Order: sequence, then C-alpha cells, then structure tokens
Amino acid sequence: MKITNLGTRDYASFYVACELYKQMSQQCHSKLGLATGGTMIEVYKFLVDLLKKNKLDVSQIETFNLDEYVGLDANHGQSYHTYMNNVLFKRYPHFNLSLLHVPNGNAVDLDEETKRYEYLINQQGPVDIQILGIGENGHIGFNEPGTDVNSATHIVNLTESTINANSRYFENEAEVPKQAISMGLSTILKAQRIILLAFGEKKREAIEKLAENEVNSEVPATILHAHPNVEIYVDDDAAPRLK
Ligand code: GLP
Repeated sequence: MKITNLGTRDYASFYVACELYKQMSQQCHSKLGLATGGTMIEVYKFLVDLLKKNKLDVSQIETFNLDEYVGLDANHGQSYHTYMNNVLFKRYPHFNLSLLHVPNGNAVDLDEETKRYEYLINQQGPVDIQILGIGENGHIGFNEPGTDVNSATHIVNLTESTINANSRYFENEAEVPKQAISMGLSTILKAQRIILLAFGEKKREAIEKLAENEVNSEVPATILHAHPNVEIYVDDDAAPRLK
C-alpha cells in the first residue's frame, strides 16, 4: 500500500480533483464514489473550478455517496445531502439529479433502505473511483472499529470518538445523530480504484496504524490492504513518522 506525502492539503486536494476530473472527462458515464467531511472540502472546490473552466458535460455522470446520518432531514444543515449540494451539485448545476445517490437516513424502513442502496450500487456499479477520508479511529465511511469485513450497506451505531469528532459541525455534541447509514467495507472494496486522503496531526495515528497493520477489524481502514488499487495521499502533518 503506497502512502504518498504530497506536502500540503492544497497540493493533495488539487491532485485528487484532477484525477476525478480526468476520469469524468475520459469516460462520460463514469461512476464516482463520493465522501464528505472537512477533508474533502478543497477537493470539491478544485473540482468545481476545473468543471467550470472546461464546461465539462456531466449529465451522464453517476455518483454514490458513502454515508448519511440517520434521522436528519435531507435539508438539514448538517446532512450529507446538504453538504454535497453546497460543495458540488449546486455549484456546478449541470448534473442529472436522478444519477446522484446519497443514502436516505430518514427512510421509514431503514433496513429496506440499506438493501435498496446496496442493490443500486451492485446494479449500476462498479464505481470507477471511490474517494475516502478517514476517521481519527480509523473508520472509513461510517464503518466503525469492529465492523465485519464482509459488511454490505448497513446501519451503524456511531462511537463516542466519532460523535465527539463530528460535534465540531453541530451546535453541540447532543445534536450529533447517534446512528448513520453507511456503505459497508465490502461495498467500498468493489470500487475499481480507491483514493484515501488524510490531513492534519489528528489523522496521523490512524495513518500510522494503516501503514503498519495487516487487515485488522479494530482499524477498519486496514481492509484497504485487501484491495489491489489503493492510493493514499497525506499532508506533512498526517504523514507517518519514519521508524
Ligand atoms: C466522518 C465521515 C467520513 C469521513 C471522516 C473524516 O465521520 N463519515 O466519511 O471521511 O469521518 O471526517 P473529516 O474529513 O471531517 O475529518
């Protein structure tokens, strides 16, 4: 598994935006696996710039988001639906809305929703490029430590560590949803190519564990060791310390 330090958040984000842009421009039916979180903000900013400058036709691009909080209305300020609209879909309003998929965390029947989402990815996939951030505890998507390596899209009980880390986006910790719907680890591994990004000192420990470990369910990101086409880009602060 190759971990590359690209120095700064800006360099790494621009590189990944270019890779996404290249995929979309070379294959107009591309399927992208999208992630949310602070890590991805600059990636989408650079991607929107590239799309606008080149007026790329994205009408046949299909996207699948990794996850969504349970119990938040799609229009809630902190839902991942809102995040995607704000960072990408509304800023480059030429996507076909029926091809933009985010799990519905407000579905009446959540089990049914997990099955629907997994089926959709299997039907329409495989995803060409899946981008991933990483949680401080090594989670990918919302797959918390202990998640079954064979898991499909499922409902997750968020750990204290994740609730605490994500409380920075909410008024207070009590407002952070306690559950989420997430692509499973096996769902993520179905992508053809996976690019994980990590920035900042708080992510260094997770990246070091990822670098050192074989597949270990206590650090869910280590499942990526089982995938043949994974790239990891970090900034100076998240780069693993050399032994
Ligand atoms: C969140 C999301 C992940 C994200 C990770 C890191 O909880 N579910 O998809 O990659 O945790 O978030 P951030 O980029 O804000 O640090």
